[in-house]
Amino acid sequence: MLTKSLQLIDREEKVIGSSMKIRMYPLVADKAKRARIFDVDGKEYIDFTANWGVANTGYCHPKIIDAIKKQAEKNTFASFTTVITESGIELAEKLIEITPGDFEKKVTFGLSGSDANDCISKLVTLATGKHRIISYFGAYHGQTMGSLSMSGHTAQAKFIGTGNIVKIPYPYCYRCAFDKTHENCDLTCLRYLENYIFKTICPPEDTAAVIVEAIQCDGGDIVPPAEYMHQLKKICERNNIFIIFDEVKIGVGRTGKFFGFEHFDIIPDAVVFGKPIASGLPLSGVIARKEILDSSVATHMLTTGGCPISTAAALATINIVVNEGLMKNVEDMGNYLKHQLLELKEKYEIIGDVRGKGLILGLELVRDRKTKEPASKETAKICYRAFQKGLIIFYVGIHSNVLEFTPPLNITKEDVDTGLRILEESIIEVLNGKVSDEELQRYAGW
Ligand SMILES: Cc1ncc(COP(=O)(O)O)c(C=O)c1O
Repeated sequence: MLTKSLQLIDREEKVIGSSMKIRMYPLVADKAKRARIFDVDGKEYIDFTANWGVANTGYCHPKIIDAIKKQAEKNTFASFTTVITESGIELAEKLIEITPGDFEKKVTFGLSGSDANDCISKLVTLATGKHRIISYFGAYHGQTMGSLSMSGHTAQAKFIGTGNIVKIPYPYCYRCAFDKTHENCDLTCLRYLENYIFKTICPPEDTAAVIVEAIQCDGGDIVPPAEYMHQLKKICERNNIFIIFDEVKIGVGRTGKFFGFEHFDIIPDAVVFGKPIASGLPLSGVIARKEILDSSVATHMLTTGGCPISTAAALATINIVVNEGLMKNVEDMGNYLKHQLLELKEKYEIIGDVRGKGLILGLELVRDRKTKEPASKETAKICYRAFQKGLIIFYVGIHSNVLEFTPPLNITKEDVDTGLRILEESIIEVLNGKVSDEELQRYAGW
């Protein structure tokens, strides 16, 4: 007799296209609360993912439920493109207030990180009259044509995309593209931008913007050196190029500050938000200099973008993250979790690097610490075994070998400890050959 989960997966495989899947194990969610998920067979899991960094306020926070209910009872829909709502205005005012930058800003709304990145890629070219945009290898900005064009991740590599994007290496010091070490590099990657990219295929006078993640998430949870970000900002200023931060995954408190770029004391010209902003309801957008978002009329509109239930949920989300001490918990639990992961690194050779900030942490797994050969299969197996034992964890990285830790921001120490115990047991079992290749066959991951 198949479990209800497996029965549903059999049905799902017949009707859902594989183009929308990154499946790591057979999880069919039913209920969820705070940092725990229950599947349709009643099995309980600790969640180290917040479902790709979305459930920052934890699942089913009573204030989010309340905000959704209240708005739904008043009005379920208005298209902000043409019909204004008060909660949309209030949300835009709030976002402008909390986003650093002593200049006039405006906001646009969309539905997902992808379309918000598409929006900014269109509008910076209109605002400047310049065509080119610089982005990064390893970046994940989304799956629509504009956002995938700016992405440099394997997940978007099947498409050629638009021709106006030039990609440069991210400061991924563990695997430096220039074979340097951070101590001796003198930021070679930025000299490459100035001395080769600007002087050849991407002149600054035709470059509208650089788009960057303050921590490169799906590329492997890579934290850049602060000096890199400072220098990048200076290069942009010197050359009259906008700097855009894609905060879709780490914004809304995940790093311990509301936005990730705040760790670098940089003021962006545009900030892209999405994922956790409305605690799981579809909402994204851009906060940017007025001249960027007012550069044209009716050039980026999504009928359901900024719908009132989402904007009401977003106001409640910001209120919870800012006023319920979530960012303090991020700092405490983030430091604790990172410390425990560093201890695991002492014990297991397979852990090549531990990195991250707050509650976005990555564990890069390698077959050999010297050659750094990615332990991709082992990573997938550890995730799978952890799932079987009651821990939800995902993996990322351009080599699919980085275990990612992005739990709800209000996760408790007890849940962190239980999750860590399961993780360690899973590492040991995979190292001892207890998970076969056949078991994983149905779960291609990415
Ligand atoms: C940094 C970043 N930007 C944009 C996106 C795309 O967001 P969405 O999947 O909501 O379209 C993602 C998704 O993982 C992301 O991590």
